[in-house]
Amino acid sequence: MNSFWKEKPLMIDHLNQVDQIIIEQLTVKQQKMNEILQDLAQSGGKRIRPGLCVLGAGFGSKSIESIYPLAAVLEMLHLATLVHDDIIDDATHRRGHLTTQQKYGKDYAVYTGDYIFTKCFEILAEHYELHHMRELSRAVSRVCVGEIDQFDGRFKSNTSVKRYLKIIGAKTSALLATSLAVGAYESGCDEAFCKKLGKIGLHVGNAFQIIDDILDYTGDEARVGKTLGNDLKQGYYTLPLIYALRKNDKQLNDLLALEVYDDEVVQQIIHRVNELGGVDKAQELAKKYTTKSLKAIASLPACQSRDDLEWITKRLLVREH
Ligand code: IPE
Ligand code: IPE
Ligand code: MG
Ligand code: MG
Repeated sequence: MNSFWKEKPLMIDHLNQVDQIIIEQLTVKQQKMNEILQDLAQSGGKRIRPGLCVLGAGFGSKSIESIYPLAAVLEMLHLATLVHDDIIDDATHRRGHLTTQQKYGKDYAVYTGDYIFTKCFEILAEHYELHHMRELSRAVSRVCVGEIDQFDGRFKSNTSVKRYLKIIGAKTSALLATSLAVGAYESGCDEAFCKKLGKIGLHVGNAFQIIDDILDYTGDEARVGKTLGNDLKQGYYTLPLIYALRKNDKQLNDLLALEVYDDEVVQQIIHRVNELGGVDKAQELAKKYTTKSLKAIASLPACQSRDDLEWITKRLLVREH
């Protein structure tokens, strides 16, 4: 288990149970596929989405065991999108290991992502009513739309904050929001309450993705465990850069106008974006979303889940990986 939840031993117990399901579900007879899937199942990761699902469920009355397969599905959906995302982003490392594409090649990586998706459908069909299938399908379609929107906007130096927020809302926050909401629904909370949790999840998700994008400008690759600077190479202008661009700085504009961003150019852009205050300003917006989330969390019924949700929301703001 990663160190992310280490202050929350009860959550670690739940997440260990969820991990067992993931390991089981990703065990297959086909030897090659099994090797790749087990690599992935045991690759670590913060387990944010299953964690949120369990926390959502804590607001309801049903026994928590019935949530585990659902929480496993949320992590597996995320895992499948990561495998495919790393193909598109040409990333070499993820969770401190080689990406599936880097280790096994693109073909295996595509098949593996697809296989994980189908396993998710199977678990949902076996254990749950159609509600979850519908909600999770919607969330994953939003991830796809967000990724395509982001891809369409590559190298556009006039990307607005509004457009950026629309992209991250879809590619990241939707799945976090759904994790909280379906957990609550499964454990018997009414729709209005699930909606409220979903809204909180969207704000938490926005703060989370902004921090992820900041880590591309400030993070230590060994600590973050994934390829950094890649957003830039791919032409993804994320929030720190969008803010820095507002300064209309000649040095930055000249760097961005170069045909190819090699490692040195990327380092120079990163340095300049920091100097122009892009990272600080992005940090402010992440903080704003966190404050908004905390305010809404404070209005939820008092219980362990509420406290843990508050804890994780704060924890995500100061994470280094
Ligand atoms: C990475 O998600 C992709 C984003 C949406 C930023 P996480 O940061 O939750 O990745 P793991 O699961 O901990 O590896
Ligand atoms: C996150 O996108 C992946 C998905 C939401 C599918 P990014 O490309 O920004 O995330 P990292 O940096 O690779 O984790
Ligand atoms: Mg990407
Ligand atoms: Mg990526």
